[in-house]
Amino acid sequence: MSQSPRRTVVVLAAGEGKRMKSATPKVLHPMLGRTLVGHVLAAAEPAGAEQVIVVVGHKADQVKAHLTEIAPSAVPVLQAEQNGTGHAVRIALEAVPEAAGTVVVLNGDVPLLRPETVNDLIAAHEAGGRGATVLAAEVPDPAGLGRIVRDAAGNLERIVEERDASAEVKAIREINAGIYAFDVASLREALSKLSTDNDQGEEYLTDVFGLLASAGDPVGVFVAPDAQETLGCNDRAELARLRALLRDRVNEAWMRRGVSILDPSTTWIDVTVTLEPDAEIDQNSQLLGATSVAAGAIVGPDTTLIDTTVGAGAVVLRTHSIGARIGDEATVGPFSFLRPGTKLGRKAKVGGFVETKNAELGDGAKVPHLSYVGDATIGAKSNIGAGTIFANYDGVNKSHTTVGEAAFVGSDTVLIAPATIEPGAYVAAGSAISGTVPAGALAVTRAPQRNVEGWVARRRAGTVSAEAAERFEAAKAPEGEISEAE
Ligand code: UD1
Ligand code: CA
Repeated sequence: MSQSPRRTVVVLAAGEGKRMKSATPKVLHPMLGRTLVGHVLAAAEPAGAEQVIVVVGHKADQVKAHLTEIAPSAVPVLQAEQNGTGHAVRIALEAVPEAAGTVVVLNGDVPLLRPETVNDLIAAHEAGGRGATVLAAEVPDPAGLGRIVRDAAGNLERIVEERDASAEVKAIREINAGIYAFDVASLREALSKLSTDNDQGEEYLTDVFGLLASAGDPVGVFVAPDAQETLGCNDRAELARLRALLRDRVNEAWMRRGVSILDPSTTWIDVTVTLEPDAEIDQNSQLLGATSVAAGAIVGPDTTLIDTTVGAGAVVLRTHSIGARIGDEATVGPFSFLRPGTKLGRKAKVGGFVETKNAELGDGAKVPHLSYVGDATIGAKSNIGAGTIFANYDGVNKSHTTVGEAAFVGSDTVLIAPATIEPGAYVAAGSAISGTVPAGALAVTRAPQRNVEGWVARRRAGTVSAEAAERFEAAKAPEGEISEAE
């Protein structure tokens, strides 16, 4: 049995990212479900490193807290002053004296990088028995990036930063992506020789290539098959551009797996979302976080789902939902707001202008119009009339209301928690309920109707209402016979 190769991953994330002009460190900016550094760590994951080191510096505490959440086994190493990428890697390696084999170094701001590309870079590096291999790409606009300088035979000679480059070197369109594989011994040796003799007065990791090449240690270039993957992110405009590229990549992958996305350019799906074939996502929709959509469900248009589960065949139209579970064949929207703890049973319905929170609807239960349902359990096949409010908050405490199976709550009702509507009970429209309605009973709490005859003619004489009433009475007078209502 061959031993698996020994590898260490180092992610560089100490820089501030000045051009982002942000209180948030650059690598913590989010992009479709992960931070920038989260994407890089995910791309490096299949490399199977013994140790993953993340070099932190600018706002280190924030970055460390994030790492604890997303990659608890990664080891943060502090680079107190950002003296360059070479300095950063030197500090990282000091933390792992036992490291052997290959060291993979990745800039923390290349979110489109694919794991396959990292793997191919490592494979090419290890097969070539080289001291160092750089991931390169041919780009139309190399401005600001390090250039790959090759000799007449096409071999890598050195990497030159734009600010240190001659006009001739600046014309090179082959750039350094900031992703590398090194032999650990070659790397340690070269790092100890770095100078700060450059425009920024920093230790450049890129200088390792020139040092190794001139010492006769073989160095190489691995050209990325898709240059887009190597794009770094330096300001908000680039962040938006990369985000759109990732969106297209994610959408295309889902469409190839049988998901209908009607308007991919306005559909934003986090990389953490899961979809089943024959799910349909209509335009202007965002599926975020731990959202999943089952087969045959229709989501959108104009819908945002955060950490929401949508069952098979459900329909979710113009809805904002966070932390909800929507059952099979349930219908939601338009204009519904589902909040955490919402659980809708099979064929349940939440209709227009309804807000739910910590609310469980049984199979076939319906809240069709204009209601607030907070802290409630509603039994299967119950119907909650238009404008019903579950008054769950007394100003200090929240309480729960239970509606049993197949109960009927009339429109414009307030259920003041804690209240209980037992199975099969009815509540008359316009009631305010604060206790228990027994099974099969009808509860009515509204005042009886009282008509004050002739009030409009006396108190609103001359108004359009008075005239309308007068015309109505005049028109029916000649008929003589008037049938009594009730
Ligand atoms: C670097 C490369 C350049 C390459 C480009 C690709 C060097 C000298 N240059 O340039 O050839 O084309 O990436 O995007 O490496 N960082 C630290 N500590 C530091 C300095 C930087 O951790 O002291 C981190 C940053 O947080 C960032 C990464 O290293 O994640 C790259 O740093 P950055 O300043 O963006 O390097 P570039 O100038 O873009
Ligand atoms: Ca950069």
